[in-house]
Amino acid sequence: MNVIHLSAECYPVAKVGGLGDVLGALPKYQCLSGLKASVVMPYYDRKFVRENDFEVVYEAASNLGNRPFNFQILKERTNKLGFPLYLVHIPGLLDREEVYAYNDETEQFVAYQLAFLDWMVQTPKKPDVIHCHDHHSGLVPFLISHSGRYRNLSAIRTVCTIHNGQYQGWFGWNKVSYLPEIDLTMTGLLDWGGCINPLATAVKCCDMFTTVSPSYLEELSINSNGLEHLFQMEKAKGRGIINGIDMQVWDPGTDQMIVNNYTTDSLKKGKFKNKKLLCHEFGLAVKKPLFAFIGRLVSEKGSDLLPEIIAKSLLTHKNKINFIVLGSGELVVENKLKKLYHGRHKNYNVFIGYDEMLSHRIYAGADFLLMPSRVEPCGLNQLYSMRYGTMPMVRRTGGLKDTVVDFDTPKGYGITFEEASIENVCEAVDRAVKLYSDETKLNTLQKRMMSLDFSWNTSAKQYINLYKSLKHL
Ligand code: ADP
Ligand code: GLC
Repeated sequence: MNVIHLSAECYPVAKVGGLGDVLGALPKYQCLSGLKASVVMPYYDRKFVRENDFEVVYEAASNLGNRPFNFQILKERTNKLGFPLYLVHIPGLLDREEVYAYNDETEQFVAYQLAFLDWMVQTPKKPDVIHCHDHHSGLVPFLISHSGRYRNLSAIRTVCTIHNGQYQGWFGWNKVSYLPEIDLTMTGLLDWGGCINPLATAVKCCDMFTTVSPSYLEELSINSNGLEHLFQMEKAKGRGIINGIDMQVWDPGTDQMIVNNYTTDSLKKGKFKNKKLLCHEFGLAVKKPLFAFIGRLVSEKGSDLLPEIIAKSLLTHKNKINFIVLGSGELVVENKLKKLYHGRHKNYNVFIGYDEMLSHRIYAGADFLLMPSRVEPCGLNQLYSMRYGTMPMVRRTGGLKDTVVDFDTPKGYGITFEEASIENVCEAVDRAVKLYSDETKLNTLQKRMMSLDFSWNTSAKQYINLYKSLKHL
């Protein structure tokens, strides 16, 4: 079976968050299971693209309404990622450095989808399944069914995975002319709340949709930024499949981005060595428990709560604990976090920005990882932290609820709390501090979480079974 994944991100080519991680791993594990999986993504002017060898496999002209554009499909020559990687290159639209930073995002992603479909129309060997990820490719299931231009693709099955329902790619009806000739009796499929809504369109038109955890599938019917009713109606074709992690990239035993590798057997010593280096780097005290936060500084992640959580907990615990934050996002939160550091602080430090290597050093060196998320479709941070023996402290929502079991229950290994509130998180910190003083218990729990299997093996197979079930549609 031949499956093409469409995504705006794919690690290590371009990653902003977990979407990149998933697309860098899922196709690789699917190929190992015997599937022919590939990724087609926008071209970015980034290190990976500059430093690797690509060949042009297709080129043509297309148009966004009355705006013509030329495009090329480039293929990475060596299969370096473990699956075929294709880039859609459009001078002036898809040739820039950032993934999401531009005002013409609608034009970028519509052109990306049209170029991909124009190429597919001309390709003799069609894929069996097109697997769209998030709203950036959400119009594809509609276009292959309701545009005359893509009629010869209509037998291809479509799956849409929702990694984050908060972002839907809305644009006004004044831009409908970007789409090629479409069946005008079907335009209702494009609409949600008076706008063209690519995520809603994907959910309506795909054969099946998935969410990145079973709990998130339930939650979307209650809270999905205006799409609640749609998810209630379409629930029957939804499935929740939890993400996995790439064990080749995220393994404390072999990770090239940390200085001291360790396994379950050498956990205590190995973690301490990494913590020592990290604390030294950030001016923190190695003997105190180290709490970390890594992620986008946006409301979904509860990152606005961090400054107060940190200040309050330091006061309660008389500075006998440490905090480190790595992230970027909303300016107000960035500024508050910087202000808290105030030029120097012995028990807290912050790095504003994106730093892949530093994230690995923190997963390895911290004792606890905070995730006070308001919304968390799956969450990969808690899976990485567990792999590195760093106890996740998570709000019980979405994928966090599905992957972290509180240590107070039999076979548990993490810390969970109900609300994304300062009180709940501070109480969780209190529990963590108490646990930290019981070294034997903490060590047992760390070993337990490190031996959990969150590899892609199970989830990649679940996707394959889903594709197979589509054959009968
Ligand atoms: P989301 O996709 O919503 O951002 P996930 O938990 O699925 O959340 O994935 C986040 C990914 O991005 C993880 O690999 C995490 O380590 C990484 N990440 C987030 N912020 C940063 C940052 N500032 N520097 C380095 N890595 C980061
Ligand atoms: C999204 C979600 C995150 C999930 C990731 C990968 O960005 O916010 O929870 O882990 O996608 O599926």
